[in-house]
Amino acid sequence: MAITLREVRRLVRPGVTTAELDRAAARVFARHGARSAPRLAYGFPGSICISVGDEVVHGIPGARRLRPGELVKLDVTAELDGYYADAAISVPVGRARPSVGRLVAAGTAALRAGLGAARPGRPVSAIGAAVEDEVERRGYRVLRELTGHGIGRAIHEPPAVPNHADPAASRPLTEGLVLAVEPMIAAGGADVELLADGWTIATRDGSVAAHVEHTVVITSGSPLVLTA
Ligand code: MF3
Ligand code: CO
Ligand code: CO
Repeated sequence: MAITLREVRRLVRPGVTTAELDRAAARVFARHGARSAPRLAYGFPGSICISVGDEVVHGIPGARRLRPGELVKLDVTAELDGYYADAAISVPVGRARPSVGRLVAAGTAALRAGLGAARPGRPVSAIGAAVEDEVERRGYRVLRELTGHGIGRAIHEPPAVPNHADPAASRPLTEGLVLAVEPMIAAGGADVELLADGWTIATRDGSVAAHVEHTVVITSGSPLVLTA
């Protein structure tokens, strides 16, 4: 997971196509005997999800060429020996505009805050409460329709892990629970829409979105990050 993200991130530059990035990810998977979980579980038409600009998640790799100043989200979910892990990063193309840099920093800080709030006995919603707090403090919005999730023997397992203080997420965290925590945030409105390709989810108002994700294990102390 971490190796794939590192290798693909290295290739992010103006002019590269998202299909080229996807092929690089596929090569890392093959080298390690891992398989693309989105393809395996849902028939996703790519090895990893690559979302650009106002696209938030589930973008399909293709002929699109990255342009300077854009923000690309690389979301990697792999299966190996029946186990799944999920991680995402947001990478500016070329030199980051200050506004894009601040948005990414907010996503990273929100993930850290969410993990900092994750302790056994607290409800799952404690994570989202901390995430949203951090995001709003920095002037951005959580895209509430999109959540993290349990993960382990399948890509998506219960419980849902909202990025806000959702009262429905009342299940207590327990030691050993494995979660994908993934703030999805935007600079503008909080609404998202499904694009005509049937996969890509984008912000409705076209504002830039950021996404960062780690798979973690709940422990008695700080969660153990599996995808670092
Ligand atoms: N990696 C995504 C997540 O964080 C799942 C992608 S599965 C897809 O949950 F098929 F929808 F792409
Ligand atoms: Co993911
Ligand atoms: Co996920």
